[in-house]
Amino acid sequence: MKTANQDIKPITTKINEKGNIEIGGCDLVELANEYSTPLYVFDEETIRAITKSYKDAFKAYPKMKMMFASKAFMTKAICKIMQEEGFGLDLCSGGEIYTAKSADFDMKKTLFNGNNKTYEELCMALDYGIGTISVDNFFELAILDNIAKSQNKTVRILLRITPGIECHTHEYIQTGHLDSKFGFDLTQVDNAIELIKEEYTNLQLIGLHAHIGSQIFEKKVFYDEVDVIFKEIKRIKDKHNITLSEINLGGGLGIKYTENDKPISIYEIAETIIESIEEHSKKYNVEEPYLFIEPGRSIVGTAGVTIYTAGSSKQVPNGRRYQAVDGGMADNARPSLYQAKYTVEVANKPKEEEKEIVTIAGRFCESGDILAKDVNLPIIEEGDIICFYDTGAYGYSMSSNYNRVLKPAAVLVNNGKSDIIINRQTYEQLCENDIIPERLN
Ligand code: LLP
Repeated sequence: MKTANQDIKPITTKINEKGNIEIGGCDLVELANEYSTPLYVFDEETIRAITKSYKDAFKAYPKMKMMFASKAFMTKAICKIMQEEGFGLDLCSGGEIYTAKSADFDMKKTLFNGNNKTYEELCMALDYGIGTISVDNFFELAILDNIAKSQNKTVRILLRITPGIECHTHEYIQTGHLDSKFGFDLTQVDNAIELIKEEYTNLQLIGLHAHIGSQIFEKKVFYDEVDVIFKEIKRIKDKHNITLSEINLGGGLGIKYTENDKPISIYEIAETIIESIEEHSKKYNVEEPYLFIEPGRSIVGTAGVTIYTAGSSKQVPNGRRYQAVDGGMADNARPSLYQAKYTVEVANKPKEEEKEIVTIAGRFCESGDILAKDVNLPIIEEGDIICFYDTGAYGYSMSSNYNRVLKPAAVLVNNGKSDIIINRQTYEQLCENDIIPERLN
């Protein structure tokens, strides 16, 4: 069955009677007028449809625990939606922990991840009652045990391992290959376990964690990942007599940014993972463990679009036409960082026949700030509303104040209603942490 990550547009996208693009029953041109641009627009129905697909696809595996990798898009409103949908949260910083806690999220259903968690963040995690910590390295084992002992607590931990699996995605978003900064190399696992058994007695090892990479289109890597983890669980049982009862396979399922992308469905990935678990639990004689997955991009990516207003334009004599918009690399770093490609439409003229090849340029002071190169669009005029699809994941979460441009607002749309979930930043907020030393006044 097809799932929403296999479509470019949010599931509620339509052209309305005014001839404008509408998402969640809200006209994008009207949203631009009401909230100004750039604006992130999130379709609640698409987010919920995807979470439901994940739950449905994995229902054949009763020991399933769904988590949302909040690094893809983290706000208090998203925490509420995930809580309602029965998802836990994968958190990777003090800021994400704080946001979840501020949204009254059930902290028992959270996992803390990261290759260099600070002492303060680990203390915070314990104070706030984080459910599980995925320990990445020897340094972290030592400080976490120290904190746990000082608070007289036992902490449930997973060991993050590097499974040695390569996936075919952008080099910057591969994580499972051997030469990676994340996790224990398999040759280091025994040493870590000895330390937990003998010295780090306030750490309770319950399972293994791996994450291969992001924007993955292949099933086989997930099949192989399960194989590597089960082999390791069996080895640990035989060598240390420890039974691990939880595995976390990370996230990584891809979405469709352009017609060239062919992501697999949530049902296909679930089937592959469940099959692999059944097969390998028999092969290695290991009881089927609790299974965690922590997708980020595939949950919020397709649901979010960014709308911009067209401003200046430049025709290079005998060359390209550049059409600038009022945002760019600070609200969407992905094109300049990963050469990411997007599908673009003009929200107030989606059906217009007359077209030209145009390059959509951002407003930031960098030649590399190009949002979409050589795209085929209706003739754009100043004031047109340009819609970039699939910006829901790693758009806002990687945004910056480069050039001291304010961070955009985000709205959640549903059934003709729009609600602000992130206010547009103000100039006062922009300067609130600046201090002029006395001697400069
Ligand atoms: N779990 C772990 C341990 C991760 O490191 C990540 C993503 C995820 C889960 C979620 O992966 P997803 O389902 O979203 O693929 N900024 C990049 C993506 C970086 C991914 C980092 N880790 C981008 O915009 O493409």
